[in-house]
Amino acid sequence: MGLFSKSKEVIGVDIGSHNIKVVQLKKTGENNYQLLKYGSAPISLDYNTESSPFDRKQSAVNSLKKLLIQNKISIKKAVTSVSGNSVIVRYVKFPSLSHAELEKTIQFEAEPYIPFGVQDVNIGFQILGEVMDEGQKKMETILIASKKEIIQDRTDILEEAGLIPVIVDVDAFALENAFEISSTSQGAGENIMLVDIGALVTNIVIVENGVCRVVRDVLVGGNNFTKALQKNLQVDFLTGEKMKLENGLIMFDERSVEKTEEDDEDKVQISEIIVNAVKSLIEEIQRSIDYYQTQSEEKIVSRIVLSGGSARLNNLDKFMSQELHIPVEIHNPFNSEKIDTNLFSGEQFIEEAPSLVVAFGLALRRERDIK
Ligand SMILES: Nc1ncnc2c1ncn2[C@@H]1O[C@H](COP(=O)(O)OP(=O)(O)OP(=O)(O)O)[C@@H](O)[C@H]1O
Ligand SMILES: [Mg+2]
Repeated sequence: MGLFSKSKEVIGVDIGSHNIKVVQLKKTGENNYQLLKYGSAPISLDYNTESSPFDRKQSAVNSLKKLLIQNKISIKKAVTSVSGNSVIVRYVKFPSLSHAELEKTIQFEAEPYIPFGVQDVNIGFQILGEVMDEGQKKMETILIASKKEIIQDRTDILEEAGLIPVIVDVDAFALENAFEISSTSQGAGENIMLVDIGALVTNIVIVENGVCRVVRDVLVGGNNFTKALQKNLQVDFLTGEKMKLENGLIMFDERSVEKTEEDDEDKVQISEIIVNAVKSLIEEIQRSIDYYQTQSEEKIVSRIVLSGGSARLNNLDKFMSQELHIPVEIHNPFNSEKIDTNLFSGEQFIEEAPSLVVAFGLALRRERDIK
């Protein structure tokens, strides 16, 4: 792997269920980067028929190939990620061991915490530090277990598109990486929740002093909003999707505007249907906040930073903030003095930026990171 290439340059490839996103950065200083290339392409699927895993994979390969050609990307080494219910992230207190010792025994130590057979997963870990637990010195560790079949699926897509997979990360950690470098970085003592809402999955992360304290993926996303329209208005998926993109949510103050025109009534109905679906996502977010706050009275989420394609749903940030009583902002990962974006401009670039956060976080990983 990479025998003839000494380059440390990589591209970040976020293989979502709806879109593939790629980002290429150039390191220009200790903590500075230039955005060289970026692109996004839909994975064209017929949502009215259940497409097979083989069809999905083929569509993903074709979209990725097109994306690489269109954006003239010649870098071959790629960093990608996994998320959803094939990945488990747990906080575990292991007996005090060195990193090397834990590496040798991790399969055995991890077994009780993983709901899959250990032979079916790849296991990774990160030691956070020493803690005292019932009078014993232990190591607080983030344990990551990812099903081998999903890793294989992702690396197959990269290879079939002519790329060389060098790292398979987890969406949540890519989000955190992207957040760390952006302008919205954390004030002292601030605990921030990062929420990336895709089509099928929403990644929820709570970051405390640069460390992920809660990592959770919930299987609710933009497709649920579309499906709610599809079901309630008896339309097909693509019509529902179009209605969602064109309308989004109407906020209460806007709703009090006279609703005499039929057109307005339709908009209000669409908004109400989406609001109901959004509420189940908000409940999941609230659950994560509650869980975090049970750990200590001081643990308060001070801000929510939204990303993913569904963060673009009209007024979603305002509605979430109103329901959760927490400020919500939309993350533009490139809006930072550490990132030179001189090569790009325009409305589309700004609009697309929130959905590129995972790909951006992946592109920040260097080959030296590989163990
Ligand atoms: N302007 C918009 N308003 C509302 N929803 C939008 C808008 N633009 C994109 N979306 C939604 O964003 C979703 C796709 O986002 P994204 O590309 O982040 O998903 P993905 O990474 O492919 O999915 P996942 O991570 O769940 O596998 C779709 O559900 C799409 O309908
Ligand atoms: Mg995604």
